[in-house]
Amino acid sequence: MRAETRPPLKTTEEGMARLDAWGLKPEQLPRHVAIIMDGNGRWAQHRGFPRIVGHRRGIQSVRAVVEEGCRLGLEQLTLYCLSVENWKRPPRELRFLMRLLRHFLSVERAELMDQNVQLRMIGRREGLPDEVLAEFDRTAAATAGNTGMTLRLAVNYGGRTEIADAAKRLAEDVRDGKVDPSRVDEALFAGYLDTAGASDPDLLIRTAGEMRISNFLLWQISYTELWVTPTLWPDFRGADLLQACTDYAARERKFGGLPASALAAGTPAG
Ligand code: IPE
Ligand code: IPE
Ligand code: MG
Repeated sequence: MRAETRPPLKTTEEGMARLDAWGLKPEQLPRHVAIIMDGNGRWAQHRGFPRIVGHRRGIQSVRAVVEEGCRLGLEQLTLYCLSVENWKRPPRELRFLMRLLRHFLSVERAELMDQNVQLRMIGRREGLPDEVLAEFDRTAAATAGNTGMTLRLAVNYGGRTEIADAAKRLAEDVRDGKVDPSRVDEALFAGYLDTAGASDPDLLIRTAGEMRISNFLLWQISYTELWVTPTLWPDFRGADLLQACTDYAARERKFGGLPASALAAGTPAG
C-alpha cells in the first residue's frame, strides 16, 4: 500500500498566530508527530499521589496536543498509550488504564468530531477487554469520514510484535499464492504493518527524559527526528509541542544523502 499523499492540512488562523509568535512557517512543521507519553507515574509520585493519578492527569496533555495539532494543521499524531510490555504492571494499574481509555474514547468522541479528527488504533486487539475494543470501534466508525488530523492510538502495541505479525500475514499470503516472494520489498512489507498507508513519523517526541525507544514504531522511525524532553507527560502542553517543532525545523534531514548546501555547491566526484 502506498503512503498517504493527500495535500497538507490547513493551519487555522489561531495556529498561524502561534506559528508567527514562534517564528515558524506551516511548511516547516512535521506532518506526522509520534509521542512516547512517559512520566505519568513519576508525576504522581513526586506529589505523593498513587501512580494512577498521573495517568488521569495525562489525559489533559492528550487533549492539549490534539487541540494544538489540529490548530497547526498536523496530518497525523500517533500516541503510545500502552505497550505489550506494560502488561507486566500491577493489575490494579492496568484496570485503571483500561477504564481511562474507555472513558476517553466515549467522552472525547464529540470533541473529536468537532475537531474533524479521524481516530485509529494500532496494536494487538487480542488481549484488550471487549468493552475497550467496542468503544474504539464506535469512535473509529464515527470519525472515519473526518478529513482533518489522524489521531492514532497505539494500545497493546509493540514494534517487534507488529513486525512479527506482519511477517506472519505475508508468509500466509505467499503460501496461498497471493504474493510472489520476488515482489517482497520495503513498500510491500510496510503494507502489512498496522500503519499501512500512513507516512512515517517526521518527529518522535519522548517525555520524561529516557533516551530509549521502548519498542515503539521500530520499522517506521528509521529516519525520524528524535526529540527528548525532561518534562513529564502530565505537564506537557501545546507550547512544548511548538518547542519540539521549532527544534525540528532547525534540523537538516539528509536521509543518508548530503546536505542541500553541499549539493548546491557541487561536490567533488569520487
Ligand atoms: C507512561 O507513564 C504511561 C504508560 C506507560 C502507560 P509511566 O506510567 O511509564 O510513568 P513513569 O515512567 O513510571 O513515570
Ligand atoms: C513506554 O513507556 C510505553 C508508553 C509510553 C506507553 P514505559 O514507561 O513503558 O517505558 P520503559 O519501561 O521506561 O522503557
Ligand atoms: Mg514510564
